[in-house]
Amino acid sequence: MSSKLVRIGFEVGTGKPVDVPISHTIATGQTQMAGKTTAFEGLIARAGLPAIAFRTKRGEGAFDGSRVIAPYFRERCDWQFVESIVGAVLRQGMRFERTWIIKASRNCDSLAEVRRRARNLMNASKRGFDRDLYMLIGEYLDLVLPMLERIPRAPRPDVSAPGAPDLAVMDLTAFPLEVQMLVLHSTMNWVYEHARSMLTVVPESWEFVPQKRDSPAKIAAIALARKGAALGNFLLSTARTWRGSRRRSCGSAASTSWACSASATRSRGPSTTSPRG
Ligand SMILES: Nc1ncnc2c1ncn2[C@@H]1O[C@H](COP(=O)(O)OP(=O)(O)OP(=O)(O)O)[C@@H](O)[C@H]1O
Ligand SMILES: [Mg+2]
Repeated sequence: MSSKLVRIGFEVGTGKPVDVPISHTIATGQTQMAGKTTAFEGLIARAGLPAIAFRTKRGEGAFDGSRVIAPYFRERCDWQFVESIVGAVLRQGMRFERTWIIKASRNCDSLAEVRRRARNLMNASKRGFDRDLYMLIGEYLDLVLPMLERIPRAPRPDVSAPGAPDLAVMDLTAFPLEVQMLVLHSTMNWVYEHARSMLTVVPESWEFVPQKRDSPAKIAAIALARKGAALGNFLLSTARTWRGSRRRSCGSAASTSWACSASATRSRGPSTTSPRG
């Protein structure tokens, strides 16, 4: 699917219009000075496409005035998903604990059932090491399950039909990062499976798509970045810093990267840099 061109400004000096194709895009620059979120707000409005964004930081005025929709979460309980959510809370790679996670998730129909199974396995464990790992899995699920209960079980995110220009925002500021990750995972999966020509704004890639560990948001973002373009589903992501972001997927996915600086943004809008593979 060919990318739609969006005007981002005018060339300094000549005044010639500058249009960029809508594609997987990353904007980076100093917090509150670069205007990354503001740049995306402008890009989305001019693209005239349905878009979905997430408000994740308290006090952030991002996407003010947009339509606020309920968070969307669809429960999964396969071991890959459980591994990624436990990895998100422990903030580390989870390969080591995989065996225990697979055992705790086996034949389960819900996360609540994984939690019960982890408790049973913990009680049945003879080695202290096994007990500790099942306890860790259970502790994390204890943390997220009550919060997940608060998310209404809608059949789909309340986004506009294809072609309808609209920016829908999920306000996740009341939830901790671990729950935000799960909502991002479900929503991006939904976009990947059902949407067409939809823009998805992933907040802070160093936090949600980290380099060194798995997270539910990372799994879904990589799938969407790799396979979404054929249906015109593009990711827009902001990053205050590249440090800690998953560079390989970002690099291959991003057709456009924007380096915003305070002076460039304030005086003449964000400057596009050449794509880096
Ligand atoms: N081109 C601009 N001219 C003037 N003010 C701007 C411009 N772009 C953004 N701003 C203002 O600068 C402030 C910060 O912008 P924004 O929230 O987009 O930054 P950010 O790079 O996304 O920051 P953060 O990393 O904290 O999310 C906002 O108050 C916004 O209204
Ligand atoms: Mg921002």
